[in-house]
Amino acid sequence: MEDSLVTGLRARDLQGRITYVNPAFCTMVGLSADELLAADEPPYWPPEHRDDYRRRQATRLGPEAAAINAAAREGFETEFMRKNGERFPVMIYEAPLVDGSGAQAGWMSAVLDLSAQRSVEELSRQQQERLQATARLATVGEMASLLSHELNQPLAAIASYASGSLNLLDAPDADTPAMLRQALGRIAEQAERAGRVIKSVHDFVRRREQLHEAIGVDQLLDAVLPLVRLQARKSGTRIELDVPTPAPRVSCDRTMVEQVLLNLTRNGIQAMDGTTPVAERVLRIGVQQTHPRWVTFSVADAGPGIPPDVAARLFTPFFTTRREGMGLGLSLCRTVIEQHGGALDFGPATPTGGGTVFRFTLPAPRVASSVSRPVDSSTTATP
Ligand SMILES: Nc1ncnc2c1ncn2[C@@H]1O[C@H](COP(=O)(O)OP(=O)(O)OP(=O)(O)O)[C@@H](O)[C@H]1O
Ligand SMILES: [Mg+2]
Repeated sequence: MEDSLVTGLRARDLQGRITYVNPAFCTMVGLSADELLAADEPPYWPPEHRDDYRRRQATRLGPEAAAINAAAREGFETEFMRKNGERFPVMIYEAPLVDGSGAQAGWMSAVLDLSAQRSVEELSRQQQERLQATARLATVGEMASLLSHELNQPLAAIASYASGSLNLLDAPDADTPAMLRQALGRIAEQAERAGRVIKSVHDFVRRREQLHEAIGVDQLLDAVLPLVRLQARKSGTRIELDVPTPAPRVSCDRTMVEQVLLNLTRNGIQAMDGTTPVAERVLRIGVQQTHPRWVTFSVADAGPGIPPDVAARLFTPFFTTRREGMGLGLSLCRTVIEQHGGALDFGPATPTGGGTVFRFTLPAPRVASSVSRPVDSSTTATP
């Protein structure tokens, strides 16, 4: 049994000299039984630990022996050295070796080589670390793609206003200062918007608690219309608005919802560009309070519509049919709207199937109950 066992067995006398080893122990340390039995001190003790191991050996006979022996039975981990100098971790379970008359003659130990287990643990730790690094990289990648996508719009606007200003300076007249002032104001606004986009995309990717504020739909539209008009002008597209007065209010993260409006209007303008006759290029932006708790937005174009094979993949990140498209616009729109508890869908813009309309819903702010409660005249204080 001792010869067949894969666990190393070792017996030592009270002075710590080896009195017995089995073949598994010899294989583990790479020394023969004769070499081990002849040594004054275990040759598998690494030189750097010898002092420690000697001290530990000495305490085995001192006053703390009982406590140490009890702990050794439970097993303790230490380091041994093979004949070739390689250090390796071992687990030792040890019990006093008692002879027939009940006197302790030394110790008996079972020794397990832990190096295989350690390398598996190390591998799994490295894999875990790599996994976490990949997850972090994925977030950085997601953020970089979204940022470059969303920053395109304010940057394109800044470039447009700047080249417009340069043209004004080429042939200055009496109106030039006022127009320059307006263009510079727009440039400043767009630069600020770019800063807000960076912050909100960052928060969005990190899935942080988002700031939801109650805001009038007219304010949201005012923020994006200058940009939408700038884009529409290039392709000769007219913008039509259908917004009731007073405009409904919604509860949302305004920068992200503005990005949704910019993405949908941009898609609509791009869909008509080149395909729809110039006279018919109209983009309709509509807003309606369709339910006491919900406001519905729509962006309708007169483009070629969406064929079924494109419709099936519309919201897949990086799906695009445009050469210079990233294919992130619609997937971002849907995620933003769904994070607000709303829904985004699309369909033909007219009953005959022409054009496309994208619709989405946003929650209306909860009306504070004190406002709608009828006033009880008996308790109303005199103004
Ligand atoms: N109003 C629309 N009319 C027709 N096709 C559309 C419309 N909106 C989107 N699509 C189709 O859906 C695809 C994906 O749109 P999405 O906005 O996600 O990406 P993109 O516009 O191609 O690129 P970008 O990331 O720059 O927005 C477009 O490439 C286009 O084929
Ligand atoms: Mg797009």
